[in-house]
Amino acid sequence: MTKIITINSEKDFYMLKEAAQAVRDGKLVAFPTETVYGLGADGLNESAVRNIYRAKGRPSDNPLILHIQSPEEITPLVNEINETARKLMNRFWPGPMTLVFKKSKIVPDVISGGLDTVAIRYPENRIACELIRLSKTPIAAPSANTSGKPSPTKAKHVYHDLNGKIDYIVNGGDCDIGLESTVIDVTGKIPIILRPGKISLEDIRELFADAYYDKHLTEITSKPVSKPRSPGMKYKHYAPSGELYILDGSYEKIQEYLDENADDDTAFLTFNEYPINRKNVWNMGCIHSPIEGSKVLFDILRECDEKNMKKIYSVMPEKNGVGFALFNRMFKAAGGKIVNLW
Ligand code: TXA
Ligand code: MG
Repeated sequence: MTKIITINSEKDFYMLKEAAQAVRDGKLVAFPTETVYGLGADGLNESAVRNIYRAKGRPSDNPLILHIQSPEEITPLVNEINETARKLMNRFWPGPMTLVFKKSKIVPDVISGGLDTVAIRYPENRIACELIRLSKTPIAAPSANTSGKPSPTKAKHVYHDLNGKIDYIVNGGDCDIGLESTVIDVTGKIPIILRPGKISLEDIRELFADAYYDKHLTEITSKPVSKPRSPGMKYKHYAPSGELYILDGSYEKIQEYLDENADDDTAFLTFNEYPINRKNVWNMGCIHSPIEGSKVLFDILRECDEKNMKKIYSVMPEKNGVGFALFNRMFKAAGGKIVNLW
């Protein structure tokens, strides 16, 4: 049985003691962060961490993020904190940023999927931080979804995927950002973005003009990546059951394409600027404000599944700033299927 603990305000924080004790006892506790819900366990307890992989059905070579709630907690987990890491930590922590360091000996191999590095994040969400503080251990947490499915941005998504497979769900309401954290390799002098997120390349370039996206992120290809730096990037991800296609073209061309290809069980994901007058339309807000689409994308993909949509056509988002993260998740959910209508 999965027990649900609902936290409406700081007055309810005392209820987190029970969840923290469960973490200390090696159990699995899902909890909210500002990005997506995480599936947490004691990051220094190997068998607890193994249970995370089991509950999600996650391949064991895909490493996990350790969550901390103060910058000092990082010291025992890593070999070295270089100047690059320090600058990023000072600017963006707590927040939706995960840094990849050379790991220390105390980090179990199950966390790092056999790599010599470890990913660490200090989230901003108050419930997440309080849970980590009370647990007195770094909490290992991937997104709390079944592997391959859209990440959970609401407690009900976690319940849908993991009810009966985990011990607790801490319900803290909807996640603010809706896409996972920006993952940055800081093992060298120049930060390399391994996964785009709300903290964008443009944000990072304010500190490091030469920061760049790892190659696999900029290659627009539907071929699976064979050996990416971030192992998670090689798997099909965020995928609804229906086939998602990203439509890249003018408003007129997209309309023509839909006239020819849409059926009764086709869903449409669009932006204010591309109104679509059909049934089964989901709006992702202003196309120039991709933070709006980021917040709702995963929920929309799950709703498309609930409504048994067989095909999903999405208008191409803008690819700068946070838009690149939105595009990245859509591209993965679509298995790389972009229809070029230009
Ligand atoms: O926002 C988030 O990051 C959420 C919340 C719960 O914190 N967590 C999350 O975890 O998205 P997960 O496991 O779903 O994604 C972690 C990503 C994966 O793509 C994984 O391959 C990568 O981070 N990663 C983890 N450890 C790594 C390492 N040592 N080197 C490179 N990539 C790593
Ligand atoms: Mg995930």
